[in-house]
Amino acid sequence: MKRVKSELFKIVMNRQRSFQFLLFLALCYILIVTVIQVPFVLKTPLSSDTLTPPLQLKTELQLDQKQSPSRPTIVVNQSENEPYKYLSRLNFDDKDGLLLGIDKSVIEAFQVGCKFWRELQESRKFQGLVNATGVENGTESCPHSISLSGFEFSDKGRNLMVIPCGMALGSHITLVAKPKKGHLEKEPKISLLREGQSALVSQFMMELQGLKIVDGEEPPRILHFNPRLKGDFSGKPVIEQNTCYRMQWGSGLRCDGWGSRAEEETVDGQVKCEKWNRDDDNHSERSKTRWWLNRLVGRTKKVTVDWPYPFEEEKLFVLTISAGLEGYHVNVDGRHVTSFPYRTGFALEDATGLSLNGDIDVHSIFAASLPTSHPSFAPQRHLDMSTRWKAPSVLPGPVEMFIGILSAGNHFAERMAVRKSWMQHKLIKSSNVVARFFVALNGRKEVNFDLKKEAEFFGDIVIVPYMDNYDLVVLKTVAICEYGVHRTAAKYIMKCDDDTFVRLDAVIKEANKVADNRSLYVGNINYYHKPLRNGKWAVTYEEWPEEDYPPYANGPGYIISSDIAQFIVSEFEKHKLRLFKMEDVSMGMWVEKFNSSKSVEYVHSYKFCQFGCIEDYYTAHYQSPRQMMCMWDKLQKGKGKPQCCNMR
Ligand SMILES: *[C@@H]1O[C@H](CO)[C@@H](O)[C@H](O)[C@H]1NC(C)=O
Ligand SMILES: *[C@@H]1O[C@H](CO)[C@@H](O)[C@H](O)[C@H]1NC(C)=O
Ligand SMILES: *[C@@H]1O[C@H](CO)[C@@H](O)[C@H](O)[C@H]1NC(C)=O
Ligand SMILES: *[C@@H]1O[C@H](CO)[C@@H](O)[C@H](O)[C@H]1NC(C)=O
Ligand SMILES: *[C@@H]1O[C@H](CO)[C@@H](O)[C@H](O)[C@H]1NC(C)=O
Ligand SMILES: *[C@@H]1O[C@H](CO)[C@@H](O)[C@H](O)[C@H]1NC(C)=O
Repeated sequence: MKRVKSELFKIVMNRQRSFQFLLFLALCYILIVTVIQVPFVLKTPLSSDTLTPPLQLKTELQLDQKQSPSRPTIVVNQSENEPYKYLSRLNFDDKDGLLLGIDKSVIEAFQVGCKFWRELQESRKFQGLVNATGVENGTESCPHSISLSGFEFSDKGRNLMVIPCGMALGSHITLVAKPKKGHLEKEPKISLLREGQSALVSQFMMELQGLKIVDGEEPPRILHFNPRLKGDFSGKPVIEQNTCYRMQWGSGLRCDGWGSRAEEETVDGQVKCEKWNRDDDNHSERSKTRWWLNRLVGRTKKVTVDWPYPFEEEKLFVLTISAGLEGYHVNVDGRHVTSFPYRTGFALEDATGLSLNGDIDVHSIFAASLPTSHPSFAPQRHLDMSTRWKAPSVLPGPVEMFIGILSAGNHFAERMAVRKSWMQHKLIKSSNVVARFFVALNGRKEVNFDLKKEAEFFGDIVIVPYMDNYDLVVLKTVAICEYGVHRTAAKYIMKCDDDTFVRLDAVIKEANKVADNRSLYVGNINYYHKPLRNGKWAVTYEEWPEEDYPPYANGPGYIISSDIAQFIVSEFEKHKLRLFKMEDVSMGMWVEKFNSSKSVEYVHSYKFCQFGCIEDYYTAHYQSPRQMMCMWDKLQKGKGKPQCCNMR
């Protein structure tokens, strides 16, 4: 039986292909290197802020802001009464109703926001999420197993199996499916390369997704498993595996048939990549004869049997993915194929969805040994209402640095991770540095209600009372300047995001390198960047008429001196501040304007990482809550170089 099988599997992928095929491979190579290699990495905008996503400004922007006849009046509420402690004093009013463009959107957002805020003030006894989503019972009860037919799976085009309580150690999912025949990929991007030509592609993506981790954005992919039957840039079939958080991919694990190296670490004792037959591998012929020889001579020496690539077009396969101690194991037709070690920042119980896309026909899916309960997923549950995490109050007198952290109403888990990690730094505990989250109001009442409760309890949230909108993040930046200047008298003002990990002492040291009497702008500075004029994140000429952006520091972490912040606030109050939807570019523009009257020292350092984390970082970006905690741990323990918590 074994022999017959091995013979069968010896049928290597078509060897006698014509000259055309070679040509095709060459073409494939070029295409794949440029396009297909990263087909699922969503392009992020040049200046990307986590909160700067698909943008659509329907109204026209006044080209010359300086000539605006009437600019809004800022309503500053001087009251220090309890409910206003955590309300930003920034407001926007348009008494004359003359505003256009982004300013008009600002007015509208503030009007809606103020209405929400008033409602929030009135509904003190509102029960919030407790009733709204019925999470009062604490745990959900989930099925031990789930089975779906292909029809049920692809119902409504979702191609998603929801695993309500996630996975646990020993959980496994079995998929019966058939890869579709390769199709000609006629993506315009590809045909750009060679006119009139297209590439033959057959691939599918199986993903374990964290559906309930984030609200209102792409779920993280805890495991991305992507077999490319027609090969990738190498021209040979491969299996790619990876993780993705907030559109940021990790470093891929690529199995190409050569197998893992002997010295490579294993996962639960299994290799990351199994070997399979490659048509350019002569070794198989020899090993075949040796195998027969060994059989005849009866040697006990371990023999290696070569298997073909596990997937074939239009051939049914049974794939099982199981959760081991150290990682996910994938078996196809009963044979181990790959193992993917768990990555920091992603947990088994977070894997609450299985999606399948690409050239595949799903016949059935079956998940078993699932956990039947899960600590509720209501994001609010991430809040740890312990007094330990409360913010110390601002002491009278100057502080070294004020840090404004951009956040969104529903980012409960992210804020908690920041509180438990770098906000525990002694400089913050001693109030030498003050950090606050800047959050606008959400469209959902319950979220606002919970946000207010959170703000009251922790004392580290500043609510900017406008209706949250990706195009208006820039208002939070102005609010940060206002707060830093007027409420804390800080020497430096830093802006970061709630998925930025900040190494406080390193950041302050960097700022202190500049002479005290100089104005400064420190960060990962981009020079000569141009606006993207087409595509998903296009910036129109109305929004940005100039060809270049001014030099600007990337949004996830930059520092300005307080005189610049003061200038921004006063320009805003004088109705002269030009607002652009990208907050980091806006800051670059304001600093440039300031620089024309008093010279600013621009300090560039790549250690304010825009994409992920590097050794010896000052700030790291795209860190999931778990990664934040891990980085803080490493920083506490490791006396040496600061280390990252991912394999990016
Ligand atoms: C200012 O604060 C007082 C409470 O002290 C409040 O009654 C009033 O409505 C506030 N004004 C604005 C514009 O929010
Ligand atoms: C919340 O539930 C309680 C009973 O548990 C009920 O009396 C109350 O009306 C509910 N509130 C809302 C807003 O649904
Ligand atoms: C909570 O549990 C009680 C019984 O313990 C049940 O009657 C009720 O429906 C549950 N509520 C929700 C929202 O699951
Ligand atoms: C196998 O090796 C021989 C030389 O040893 C070479 O001529 C031949 O092209 C190789 N075959 C493949 C498929 O690479
Ligand atoms: C800043 O201070 C240094 C000495 O600390 C002095 O030499 C320099 O002239 C000052 N620069 C300005 C612009 O005041
Ligand atoms: C800042 O101003 C100085 C002159 O005051 C100029 O030389 C420099 O290029 C300006 N820097 C930027 C980044 O605009």
